[in-house]
Amino acid sequence: MTHFAPSLSTSALTGSEAREPRRFIRRHGPLDPFIAELDVALQVLGGGVTASRPNPAGLNVEALDADLDTAAKRHAAGLMRVNHVGEVCAQALYRGQAAAIPSQESAEFFLEAAAEEVDHLGWCAQRLRELDSRPSLLNPLWYAGSFALGMLASRAGSAQSLGFMAETERQVEAHLEGHLTELPVSDVRSRAIVEAMMKDEAKHRVSAEHRGARVLPKPLRSAMRLMAKVMTKTAYRI
Ligand SMILES: [Fe+2]
Ligand SMILES: [Fe+2]
Repeated sequence: MTHFAPSLSTSALTGSEAREPRRFIRRHGPLDPFIAELDVALQVLGGGVTASRPNPAGLNVEALDADLDTAAKRHAAGLMRVNHVGEVCAQALYRGQAAAIPSQESAEFFLEAAAEEVDHLGWCAQRLRELDSRPSLLNPLWYAGSFALGMLASRAGSAQSLGFMAETERQVEAHLEGHLTELPVSDVRSRAIVEAMMKDEAKHRVSAEHRGARVLPKPLRSAMRLMAKVMTKTAYRI
């Protein structure tokens, strides 16, 4: 079963459209879910997402970045690009899970999780711009792979799919904790974003656990860790 997935942005009717009688009746066709997903993927990959919560780093960019030299800036950008890739993957994973899970209730839970991760995506993208850097060039590849992986996880059933989400969030928490030791001490803005993300990821893990997440087998957890390692090493540079 494929669930109709809402877009990341909503468009409202303009005043004149609301007054005019409608000439066409829009019917949902079988391709609509795929077109809607493609639209979301393009928004994520094209940077067309906006965080709904304020950036935890605040507004004072220039004053706070004054102590960052070129090398520190480049290193921070590499780490924040890794975090941005992680958030691109989170979007794709959870939307892939929502698309393939048979239960409508679980699908809504995964879509809500993806919507909450949009803030992280927006904050990381903004920080990359502030550091005069860019997102990973391989993002389309990461997105497609993660979406397929999410669909595959959902085929194993709700408990396993939630287990996959809980394990993903657990590994992301550990990874972000590592970044707090790696980021330059003077990079106050990146650190504030990573700290806020870490708190959110812990909440996401707990909510998956409360919904009955099953602990994944050790070989699968190790494979996920290995894949994340490949992704982080690549995204730091490309
Ligand atoms: Fe996140
Ligand atoms: Fe999360």
